[in-house]
Amino acid sequence: MGITVQLRLITERDLGVAPPDWTFNGASTREFTHCYHDYPARMIPQIAGKLLDMFAPTEARLLFDPYCGTGTSLVEASLRGLNAIGTDLNPLARLIAHAKTSVPDTGILDAEISRLRRMATRHSSPNPSLSMSPINGIDRLDFWFKPQVILLLNELRQFISSIEEPCVRLFFQVAFSETVRESSNTRNNEFKLYRYDDATLEKLNPDVLGIMLSKLKRNRAGLARYEPIIRNFKSPTEVLVHDFDTVHGIPAEILPPASADIVITSPPYGDSHTTVAYGQYCRLSSAWLGLPDPEKVDRRLMGGKPNKKIPVFPCDSLNHALGEISRIDEKRALEVSSFYSDLLASIHNVSHVIKTGGYSCYVVGNRKVKGVVLPTDEAVRCFFEHFGFIHIDSFSRSIPNKRMPLRNSPSNAPGAVDSTMVRERIVVMRRELNQSIRERATPYLRRKKKGTGERSRLNKPRASSRVMIRRK
Ligand SMILES: C[S@@+](CC[C@H](N)C(=O)[O-])C[C@H]1O[C@@H](n2cnc3c(N)ncnc32)[C@H](O)[C@@H]1O
Repeated sequence: MGITVQLRLITERDLGVAPPDWTFNGASTREFTHCYHDYPARMIPQIAGKLLDMFAPTEARLLFDPYCGTGTSLVEASLRGLNAIGTDLNPLARLIAHAKTSVPDTGILDAEISRLRRMATRHSSPNPSLSMSPINGIDRLDFWFKPQVILLLNELRQFISSIEEPCVRLFFQVAFSETVRESSNTRNNEFKLYRYDDATLEKLNPDVLGIMLSKLKRNRAGLARYEPIIRNFKSPTEVLVHDFDTVHGIPAEILPPASADIVITSPPYGDSHTTVAYGQYCRLSSAWLGLPDPEKVDRRLMGGKPNKKIPVFPCDSLNHALGEISRIDEKRALEVSSFYSDLLASIHNVSHVIKTGGYSCYVVGNRKVKGVVLPTDEAVRCFFEHFGFIHIDSFSRSIPNKRMPLRNSPSNAPGAVDSTMVRERIVVMRRELNQSIRERATPYLRRKKKGTGERSRLNKPRASSRVMIRRK
């Protein structure tokens, strides 16, 4: 007769010890390469670091992040000598994640920075005779940039394309991306693209080359802290950034079943349209960098396509919340449910690639729609339980410094705002020992698409597309 033993980690809470502090008030979130580029709703590095220290087994080799954004968890894994694989549908996020986990030849890098500095001292006004290739993805360039700024950005773009070493070019592209945003006519403290008012615009006179040089200097200092740690590892470790969508499947040639020791991720809070518009935030920079279809990014992200019918999810509290919203506004409930259909399909696929005994850690926010709180933390827990995982703990933290919309529109009406998501939850699950993933959820799941397993163009094999680092 078999005996089923339910294993559960004993947590500090069980032992009556004070729960761990996840707030990290006052901690620098911009150490190492984390300083490279801003991004909405970035996970703070301390969370990924602490989760790795608490839950990654000592023999762990691989972290996976299915919504890697700019690569916070990938950097933290690499700093601990772990291989890491991330995926994201936003090309600019991938470019940044890739740069943050790469170690360029610093001799060449410093020579290129000096070359740019020399160029900037020779002239601060642009060379108007320089040719300009089209910037695809921005309809009205002169609406978003002053004429002088366009010329200087064009000059910088040409400078960057003259850099031969790909890893050094990548380093410059990331600094250029922030320079584009900061020298544009957009209000810098917004995620969405809003233009300054006329009075502000009249006074606006950004020092484009000065901004670029200061970004390079800051990022070079971050690299100087990252590089020695990475180079000190003895055996090669690699970080790869892909563009597959876990909602539709995970290419087995990239991540075979039961291959990841730990997943650490922060999924979006909801669809891009009503929560964080990642595509819009990145649009100007992506267009200047020539990244593909900057105007289409938001439509491709989670929850981008509304459901025709609200599914019954394997999570009672989520079904209840969706029912409440539906009573107020059925169309809105359909839109919202689509995000959870995608999340369930993604979790189904992610659950397959985690090793038995491996961990999944999701950092989520419970947003409000039509005054109804959506229990995303419980949804994550129930969905993983549905696929044979056990719940280890859910930590709650207030958000002191993560860049995110603390006020959004719960009614989706222009101008209506509500303070929301001042706390987030870290849901930790473990794949049960000796239990294979159960295939129970097929009615809810999105059908798998063929051919989603392409490697990101950034990761086509070439010397600098991998961080060849050494494990201690
Ligand atoms: C909260 S952010 C992640 C931030 C990341 N932890 C960081 O430190 O930068 C969520 C990310 O999910 C990405 N995303 C949304 N839907 C996706 C999908 N279906 N597949 C992959 N990435 C997706 C967005 O582009 C965004 O970068």
